[in-house]
Amino acid sequence: MKKIIMFFLIYAFSIVFVYASSDSVKKRQNAMQQVREATKVLFPMAKGKTDYDDFVVISMLDQMLNAAKPYASYFPIEQEAVAHSEAAETIWTDRSGFKQSVNKFIDDIEFALNAEPENLDDFKPMFAKITNNCQSCHQVYRMK
Ligand code: HEC
Repeated sequence: MKKIIMFFLIYAFSIVFVYASSDSVKKRQNAMQQVREATKVLFPMAKGKTDYDDFVVISMLDQMLNAAKPYASYFPIEQEAVAHSEAAETIWTDRSGFKQSVNKFIDDIEFALNAEPENLDDFKPMFAKITNNCQSCHQVYRMK
């Protein structure tokens, strides 16, 4: 109970900003974790190490798409001062470039989803296009 009262007090004193920020950090890290989970399933499949399963492919791509779609909205107008975020300053200095990167990622996932690849040969180049986005975005917009 005390915690709840504290929370509302803090809310009232509008330190809510800090909470809202760390909340969006959590949201985008969860989203990327979802993307990573899907990649971990699809990567060995694209390499031919696990059997190709078009149902799994579609559901993993769906998961990726759901994570990617709202992704850009998880970054507040002002960069938050939280230690545990790996978001690079470039997201805020080059917002439109960042949005374009997110959109390209979404487009490549949607392309594969709409194509419904039925075999490994069809899937491979589509998956390569999708995963190219990881590095190209991380290089510019994620600090390591
Ligand atoms: C449009 C940009 C963009 C794309 C595309 C992208 N990422 Fe990320 N990713 C980020 C940013 C920005 C962060 C850091 C966010 C933060 O810590 O606040 C991140 C963080 C991560 C993290 C760490 C999450 C955590 O818990 O801290 C993982 C894992 C990850 N990405 C995997 C991937 C994989 C795999 C792909 C491709 C399939 C991918 N990302 C595509 C921008 C992107």
